[in-house]
Amino acid sequence: MSPSLSEFRKPFEAAGQGHVFRHAEAQDAAAQARLAQQLAGIDLKLLKRLVDEMKQDRPVTALELDRVEPAPFLALPVGPGGRRREKRAAQAGIEALTAGKVAAMVVAGGQGSRLGFEGPKGCFPIGPVSGCSLFEWHFQKVVASRRRFGAAIPMLVLTSPANHTQTIEFLRANRWFGMPEQDVIVFPQGMLPAVDFDGRLLLEAPDALFRSPDGHGGALLALAREGVLDELTRRGIENIFYFQVDNPLVKVLDATFLGHHRLAESEMSSKMVLKRDPKEKVGVFARAGRRIGIVEYSDLPENLAQAVEPDGAVRFGAGNIAIHVIDVAFARRVNEGGLRLPYHRAKKVIPCLGADGVLTRPTAPNGVKFETFVFDALPLAKRALVVETSRAEEFSPVKNAEGEDSAATARRDLLNLFRSWLSEAGFAAGDGAVLEIAPSFALDREEFAHKVAVERVLCDGTLWVK
Ligand code: UTP
Repeated sequence: MSPSLSEFRKPFEAAGQGHVFRHAEAQDAAAQARLAQQLAGIDLKLLKRLVDEMKQDRPVTALELDRVEPAPFLALPVGPGGRRREKRAAQAGIEALTAGKVAAMVVAGGQGSRLGFEGPKGCFPIGPVSGCSLFEWHFQKVVASRRRFGAAIPMLVLTSPANHTQTIEFLRANRWFGMPEQDVIVFPQGMLPAVDFDGRLLLEAPDALFRSPDGHGGALLALAREGVLDELTRRGIENIFYFQVDNPLVKVLDATFLGHHRLAESEMSSKMVLKRDPKEKVGVFARAGRRIGIVEYSDLPENLAQAVEPDGAVRFGAGNIAIHVIDVAFARRVNEGGLRLPYHRAKKVIPCLGADGVLTRPTAPNGVKFETFVFDALPLAKRALVVETSRAEEFSPVKNAEGEDSAATARRDLLNLFRSWLSEAGFAAGDGAVLEIAPSFALDREEFAHKVAVERVLCDGTLWVK
């Protein structure tokens, strides 16, 4: 046994994890060194805490569930007053964007297991006509915003060690989709081990623990650990516009949302939509005392999920769509002295080595994965703002291979959005017409209408050409 691996034997045995050495002893020195390196990355104290929490099986929330109420939010604008409010916010957002104070950040470190797509989810083809990838779709928006605001807006891409290299290769092969390479910052999140229901670490090979990305909350840790916050500060960036790779509808760098965030002096702001129905699988905004947070759908007790107001509205009806503005200073502050976000648990089918050293894929969940959620930082904010938006305009995630929240529903919703832009500009797309308005052509309905009306851009039925 290599000396480095033997170093870990005592502490891991004392922690009831001695089985991790079982298959490594028959391996060569290189394999043993690989396992040693992985064990060095395991925080045994944290692991014990996670296992204890798992055994107690209490819901994991950043807010105390026995005192949560629905969170207040800025509702969709109504009337002239609402329009004035939105205009003021847009102005403040435009100023920040033009002054180069904002970065875009897409989180793309997830495993996309429900989608079942080989490779990083950002490489998934989404364009209804072009078939362009989710990454390209989002990058086009950043490139177009850089042009619109005349600012060197950086694009941050969160990956995980499992897809980091593939992501970089994909972006490089596509020439960073028109971004200058120095303005694309790709950085990996951390990984966490999984355990079986007795709290024992699982092995995926004799020299490898089963580990998975530490959740999108890992973005906050990685921003600090990978030096990204320092780089952003060096560039004079104050706000990070955070979104998920799997939502093609997101209005990346939305000036109005940024403006609301800045005018409210919020440290972390979030967009929300009203839930489709009480059962929709999105987290909900809640408040406990002065603290705002999100309770994940799986942690929301049934009586709260089903509760309705006297007017019939779902009481906890403000659904999280994972679009946030996060202050660089806030991200820095929460990392000072070690960021402690709660660890959520998910029971999963985890292929792993049996006692005989044979890799098996169980048919039922056999273990627990742990992850942190970025929104659990919300209660740490001195001020947190929640802003309502329209689902049809902004939210249609690609989560599943088919059915709800799949590529088919996301393309349908993109199509419906583009149809509405067309009809506002005085056109009607025929039934069954497939169309796509590339973000590089128009970022929003106003720009589209302007191009069509003022610049007299022509349309051939499916593609827009100048
Ligand atoms: P989800 O957890 O909804 O989806 O992540 P997923 O990980 O892509 O797919 P499943 O759950 O395995 O089917 C929502 C967003 O957060 C990112 C994902 O890449 C996606 O953009 N994410 C998730 C991370 O960046 N890191 C993580 O550890 C988890």
